[in-house]
Amino acid sequence: MEWGTDMGILDGKRILVTGVLTDSSIAYSVARLAQEEGARVVLTGFGRLSLVERISRRLPEPPPVIELDVQNTEHLDTLADRVGEHIDGLDGVVHSIGFAPQTALGGNFLNTSWEDVATAVHVSTYSFKSLAVACLPLMKGGGSVVGLDFDASKAWPVYDWMGVAKAGLESCSRYLARDLGKHGIRVNLVAAGPLRTMAAKSIPGFAEFEESWPAKAPLGWDLTDPAPAARACLALLSDWFPATTGEIVHVDGGVHAMGA
Ligand SMILES: NC(=O)c1ccc[n+]([C@@H]2O[C@H](COP(=O)([O-])OP(=O)(O)OC[C@H]3O[C@@H](n4cnc5c(N)ncnc54)[C@H](O)[C@@H]3O)[C@@H](O)[C@H]2O)c1
Repeated sequence: MEWGTDMGILDGKRILVTGVLTDSSIAYSVARLAQEEGARVVLTGFGRLSLVERISRRLPEPPPVIELDVQNTEHLDTLADRVGEHIDGLDGVVHSIGFAPQTALGGNFLNTSWEDVATAVHVSTYSFKSLAVACLPLMKGGGSVVGLDFDASKAWPVYDWMGVAKAGLESCSRYLARDLGKHGIRVNLVAAGPLRTMAAKSIPGFAEFEESWPAKAPLGWDLTDPAPAARACLALLSDWFPATTGEIVHVDGGVHAMGA
């Protein structure tokens, strides 16, 4: 027997991973590492499912892909049944979803319309609650819900209404932790440093902003490596944070802890 094959930190865990779009998606790394650590994974995909399916075939074990647009109530209402066709329950759920219209990003903060802000908050903030509640029927034995955050304790260049949506996500996570604790469900966020994914590339001016990050980080920071953020997600999904909920774990090379 190969050393370590039966020793994954997610051995026996059943994990739903949202947010795979490309192989640079944070969710893709989460799915890959989760499988390597012994988890059974189901993915949800948004929009062009054939694309997500193609990417998912690069994973160690191509998982089922289920359609989920978090703005679609029917998708949410039927999610547990559709996931249940592939797996008999869930021990973990990963929310790796964010979107804001172009007008809500890139320095247009004072002129963004409510409709565009509402879209950003619906997809990036409210959906954390929607997803957790939709998965509740499958989490009878308790479990762990993990979301991807970008530190919202400060105003950043160009991040604008996405930053406001993330501040909402941080608060949403604490309220979810309050209300799901009685079901044995932990709710936590990983606040990642900037990573060159589709979501990041679609923010005008993010490239210039992110370039200063590696120099500010005591540990340095690789803008092209989502693995550190993904590994933190795995840790929170595992049994090794049994008494932690409502928490934000920063995986940013240490930038959040530094002065200017
Ligand atoms: N890339 C970064 O710099 C960075 C840093 C910190 C946190 N994050 C967060 O990580 C998460 C994942 O983003 P990523 O950087 O991996 O980029 P990504 O573009 O690979 O992933 C974003 C995902 O959101 C999904 N999505 C958008 N609208 C949706 C909807 N209506 N319903 C369901 N899914 C929808 C997309 O399909 C995509 O899979 C996001 O919450 C993002 O804000 C990213």
